[in-house]
Amino acid sequence: MAGLITMDDLTNEQILEILADAERLLPVARGEMYLPLLQGRILGNLFFEPSTRTRMSFETAMKRLGGDVVNLGDVKTSSVVKGETLFDTIQMVDGYTDIIAMRHPRQGAAQYAQDAARVPILNGGDGAGHHPTQTMLDLFTIKQAHGRLDGLKVVLAGDLRYGRTVHSLSHALTRFGCELIFASPDLLKMPEEIVSDLRAQGADVVETEDLYDSMNDADVVYMTRIQKERFADEDEYARCAGAYKLHARHLNGVKPDMIIMHPLPRVDEIDPSVDATRHARYFEQAFNGVVARMALLCRLLGVPVPEEVQGGAL
Ligand code: NCD
Repeated sequence: MAGLITMDDLTNEQILEILADAERLLPVARGEMYLPLLQGRILGNLFFEPSTRTRMSFETAMKRLGGDVVNLGDVKTSSVVKGETLFDTIQMVDGYTDIIAMRHPRQGAAQYAQDAARVPILNGGDGAGHHPTQTMLDLFTIKQAHGRLDGLKVVLAGDLRYGRTVHSLSHALTRFGCELIFASPDLLKMPEEIVSDLRAQGADVVETEDLYDSMNDADVVYMTRIQKERFADEDEYARCAGAYKLHARHLNGVKPDMIIMHPLPRVDEIDPSVDATRHARYFEQAFNGVVARMALLCRLLGVPVPEEVQGGAL
């Protein structure tokens, strides 16, 4: 069965259907009702890189739907340290599970894993490549706030060079006709091949270093962490660390319904003073990881989400 490796694996219509499924699953994600749609199914969580939200929200999603989860656990205590290849690990976990969520430091690893597996692979981040399940929860968050995805003005800011969340998100937003503003220090610009690919798809893209000025008529400001672990040169990291520090005082001239998002974890790019403003949406966004992943798990396992979600009481 096909998995989700990049956003190209989903049509716009499928994206909207999955978001609608996710919305109906909100009471299940909140634990207000129990709906064991995935009873008897097993998710394999294979995280070869640190993760809190992606791993835990996949696990929560599976368990809220009555399914089970097996974990690779800490890479240091798995056979990976004995030199097992990714190909072998995947072939084996394929036999233990019905679906696999995987994160790996190497770009392209998710596709490689999909080629080795019969079960669907959900790419939970492959190096600086893609992070499509994050994009699904990002789109869900944007749609909940603005009621639509099309035609919005979205600022993507921070580390656009190594940030996989913004690589996947910019492709999806382009397909929904959003206007994109890429705000980053010169060193961390969106890779040229991505920008030209987006433009070839008809994207309206502006690149700038001035984050604060670009926020004024935006509907969404998507902040990202500088991906320290992907820099080959520490001095290069030192030169762009702390490039943007969004503070509540920067929000005076913005649209009242503008939302600030962040895939988290944040370092210093959003000051805690922003948390209490009407614009902050990042913790809700992290919660949305549960519903978005519930809907994706159902879809890839071929289990329809009922039109009327009615579950038992807890
Ligand atoms: C992101 C990631 O791993 O790419 N985290 C996440 O999944 N929420 C962002 C990051 O690590 O900066």
